[in-house]
Amino acid sequence: MAKFGHNLSPELLQAQKRILKEKVISGPEAYHQLVDILHYHEHRYYIDNDPQLSDFEYDTLYKILEKAESDHSDWIRSDSPTQRVASDVSNTLETVAHMVPMLSLDNTYNLEDLQDFDQRVKKLCGLSADTTVEYLVEPKFDGGSVSVLYINDQLVRAATRGDGIRGEDITLNARTIRSLPLSAPFKSLGVQQTELRGEALIRKDVFEEVNQSREEDGLSLLANPRNAATGVLRVKDPSETASRKLDMFIFQWGYAVDAQGNDQLGRFKKQSSHIEALQSLGFKVAIAEKKVCQGIAEVFDFISGWANKRDHFEYELDGMVIKVNDLSMQEICGFTSHHPRWAVAYKFQAKQATSVLLNVEYQVGKIGAITPVAKIEPVQLAGVTVSSISLHNEDFIRSKDIRLGDTVLVERAGDVIPYIVKSFPETRPANTRPIHFPTHCPSCDHKLVREDDEAVWRCPNAHCPAQIVQKLIHHASKDAMDIDGLGASLVERFYQLGMLKTMADFYRLDFEFIATLEGMGKKSADKLRRSIEKAKANPIHRFLHGLCIHHLGKKISKLIAAHVNDIKDLEHWTLDQYRAIKDVGPVVGQNIMDFFSDADNVRMIHDMEALGVNMKQTPEDRPAEAVTDGPFSGQTILFTGTLQTMGRKEAEMLAEKNGAKNLSAVSSHLNILVVGEDAGSKLTKAQKLGTVRILTEDEFLGEIGRKS
Ligand code: IVH
Repeated sequence: MAKFGHNLSPELLQAQKRILKEKVISGPEAYHQLVDILHYHEHRYYIDNDPQLSDFEYDTLYKILEKAESDHSDWIRSDSPTQRVASDVSNTLETVAHMVPMLSLDNTYNLEDLQDFDQRVKKLCGLSADTTVEYLVEPKFDGGSVSVLYINDQLVRAATRGDGIRGEDITLNARTIRSLPLSAPFKSLGVQQTELRGEALIRKDVFEEVNQSREEDGLSLLANPRNAATGVLRVKDPSETASRKLDMFIFQWGYAVDAQGNDQLGRFKKQSSHIEALQSLGFKVAIAEKKVCQGIAEVFDFISGWANKRDHFEYELDGMVIKVNDLSMQEICGFTSHHPRWAVAYKFQAKQATSVLLNVEYQVGKIGAITPVAKIEPVQLAGVTVSSISLHNEDFIRSKDIRLGDTVLVERAGDVIPYIVKSFPETRPANTRPIHFPTHCPSCDHKLVREDDEAVWRCPNAHCPAQIVQKLIHHASKDAMDIDGLGASLVERFYQLGMLKTMADFYRLDFEFIATLEGMGKKSADKLRRSIEKAKANPIHRFLHGLCIHHLGKKISKLIAAHVNDIKDLEHWTLDQYRAIKDVGPVVGQNIMDFFSDADNVRMIHDMEALGVNMKQTPEDRPAEAVTDGPFSGQTILFTGTLQTMGRKEAEMLAEKNGAKNLSAVSSHLNILVVGEDAGSKLTKAQKLGTVRILTEDEFLGEIGRKS
């Protein structure tokens, strides 16, 4: 029955090699093979988190498929990976009836509640109070509930929960979720029609990325991963859902019939067998995270373990779900109109607290965005004292109906930054005051502006001191020119002293004078000189990112750097040249053109070049074609701790040369962690995951044949 064995079948492996070599496909049979090959690799990537191909090879196969489909539209299979995002079709969001009602879950909060549940189950099943019941315990994912319908092995419909009986048709959106198979071999089980239930959710790190780019684009920030997932499930435009990179975990299999309408689930005796069968059919299920427990004490132990480690889990969880494992016992227990009697949710304690809003301060960002920041009475939230919380923008303040002096509910979920959940207008005291969003810049008093499609107010004054300082801080920061030892407070100090007025001034600092400053001295000044000398030779993608051009983030800077020989060439680039680069949009292109049409900016760039700052493309700016036959091909890698024989950058380049892809954080996507001396939390996290191969520096060098 298994949709995918651990490896590609020899026949498909052969076909893959041939297609990669010939770069075209010969006929319909090869087309079918290619779709199957890509299904396999999607599964390894999106479901197993264990890619077997480099991104480059995957993209190559995908492009060959696209070409074949544009030449032979009659070949196109509806489950082809190219068919996930339908072009020019939008969701109707019509309501549709679920095959099986989507009930909710009863909640428990402590051991006592769980013991009561256990006793109720035994009573319903006519078992004595001291019988040990077997339970399946799994994470309670915090996203949006979805039902998916497959007929003749094809995904034909997906719907939101709605009122539990009828939900909204979101088929086109669900099709964009890469971990939800568009087809699955149910026929191998005699199943012609089946409905499954799962949760669409977003990984915490993807959520952070989404918010980061929303911030760069001047859009309002999303409050938490749950909203980030549910918000895009019900949009009209499927490409919007696709861009949010959702995942789909399937956790329930309640309906499966053959062509005559006969139930086909009778062969399964346990809830855990459902999950295992769904896994072999190609679905993403919580296999590694679940446990079959004997009795409620074991359940409680397992749950307590998760309460401690949930912060390190890739997805947001709001609790665990406990299900009677024996399916015939489930049938005896039955349902209320609200929830099954054989299952219960255990909710983790919310990391919430109430506090009082004392004041709102307004920060000016590097491109003038005004961010309101709430100053609250300090509260303890999951071991951290919180006294300052972003209120994002004016609309956020209005939508939450927040006033100065209000009591507010504050939450810190997992690794996510704290946010204000709500105010309490019903019990508001008389002396609260409205928040007046400023009309003028708190730094330079220029009138603020707000573009129609933006949520933020901006200060448009290019000479605004607060913006200049933020730009300078960004230029020197780790993400941009990475000038070691020149953090925000020192940049601010140099600015106050008149030593830094434009970015070019970084490269003509007077180190003799710096050595005389309080707290600096010759040693620190020398160190700073060396850091700046080093930064001058940076690859140009860092320099581009350091210019603080609106929408020109790290990723776009790299894309442009790969296409330009000399930064100064950009003085003459046209919009078409920007648009010719995949993923570079017209807005950022126009912003860069505006930057280079300003004579002051051009002068500054030429000054910097004269001061020795590199303007020419370096090898690091040119994307290396993935090495497909290296010892680490298809593997992801991360270095942590202090390495003895090489610098971090050098190590990363070596890894890349040997086929690996460098990652910046430990997650289930990581294959190898190389540990130097004094490795800290990354090592602990990798050990906890248990799926990461941990290598010493020596072992790493050994594997690439570099060991002395
Ligand atoms: S079972 C009849 N299992 O939690 C089955 N639900 O608060 C009822 N949820 O609407 C649901 N993870 O969307 C189940 N492992 C899991 C779950 C889960 C998340 C959601 C589900 C449901 C809500 C109830």
